[in-house]
Amino acid sequence: MPKPVQNIIIAGAGGNVGLPILEECLKASLKVSVLTRPGSTSKFPDIVKVFTTDYSPASLALAFQGQDVVLSLLGLSAIGDQQYALIEAAVKAGVKRFFPSEFGLDTASAQVLAAVPPFRVRAELIDTIKAKQAAGSPMEYTAVVAGLFLDWGFFVGFLGLDVEQRTAELWDEGNVPFTATNLSVVARTVVKILTDAAAYEASRNAYIYTGSVTMTQTELLAATEKATDAKFAVTRIESQKLIAESSAKLAGGDFAAMLPLVQAVGFARFHGEALTDLRKYGLFNEKFGITDGSIEEMVATMLKHRFELPYVRYIAPTP
Ligand SMILES: NC(=O)c1ccc[n+]([C@@H]2O[C@H](COP(=O)([O-])OP(=O)(O)OC[C@H]3O[C@@H](n4cnc5c(N)ncnc54)[C@H](OP(=O)(O)O)[C@@H]3O)[C@@H](O)[C@H]2O)c1
Repeated sequence: MPKPVQNIIIAGAGGNVGLPILEECLKASLKVSVLTRPGSTSKFPDIVKVFTTDYSPASLALAFQGQDVVLSLLGLSAIGDQQYALIEAAVKAGVKRFFPSEFGLDTASAQVLAAVPPFRVRAELIDTIKAKQAAGSPMEYTAVVAGLFLDWGFFVGFLGLDVEQRTAELWDEGNVPFTATNLSVVARTVVKILTDAAAYEASRNAYIYTGSVTMTQTELLAATEKATDAKFAVTRIESQKLIAESSAKLAGGDFAAMLPLVQAVGFARFHGEALTDLRKYGLFNEKFGITDGSIEEMVATMLKHRFELPYVRYIAPTP
């Protein structure tokens, strides 16, 4: 069966999400090019064609010639202006499908956008693509919602555990279910869409939802204590207090306050709802046969292979 698309260009291919997706695209023999900024420290294998861009229309027009798909995997500080520039250039170049830099919370949810207002730009980007479609553009979109990253979050501490210090911060009772996805599952799912006609069709103009596991913080802590044979010291976060403080700081311009709000959408309830329990949507990766192990198996694997993982450069330079 021919692949639904052949030529892929990735913006942000050297990042946390970019590296595993780039690797998986190459394994699938897709023809991959990357976009990178002048002076960037990102490094790419020789087989990859590299386009340096200042995100000007001219530089993007050159890079997007003949591309079927633009994968935007840009970091959080670049999800606004740079992505509008990518969309404009992609439509002009006749790109078939655009993947915006999502890969996190469910930004199709009004409640999530109310809790983390800077993510409104993500919904606005989708609206921009829809407006272009209404004006005749055939460019489609796929927005990948992955909940929280499991492996990345486990080691950078975003899931509330500090494996080195044997400490844990649990939000309230630590009993809110949230969906988390390993980066390998994110990468395999994206490549499935690019290489399998049914997956390509099923993700046309859609938000798709991925998950390796849905669990509570308490369940993750129990699995980690078992795997490390250690008892972690637990502190409790009062969710309502931290949400109120962080929302006020964010409104006052402190962008860093966004991160606890992202955690809150994972670990706290909003009007009684667990907003990052993505099972209700049906997990796209599972529908297409991409699964992971149990929590216990995944925690054991993460602890065993931690220094081989691509994102280790962000967290632990020496074993
Ligand atoms: N679900 C989760 O738990 C979770 C965790 C982390 C990230 N995410 C999401 O995943 C997506 C990708 O994040 P990431 O952590 O992989 O990104 P990242 O590693 O921080 O950055 C990826 C790339 O973006 C480019 N970039 C960074 N700042 C830029 C700027 N100001 N202007 C233009 N390009 C810039 C850089 O590429 P060059 O240097 O090559 O130009 C960089 O290598 C984001 O949407 C983020 O919100 C989700």
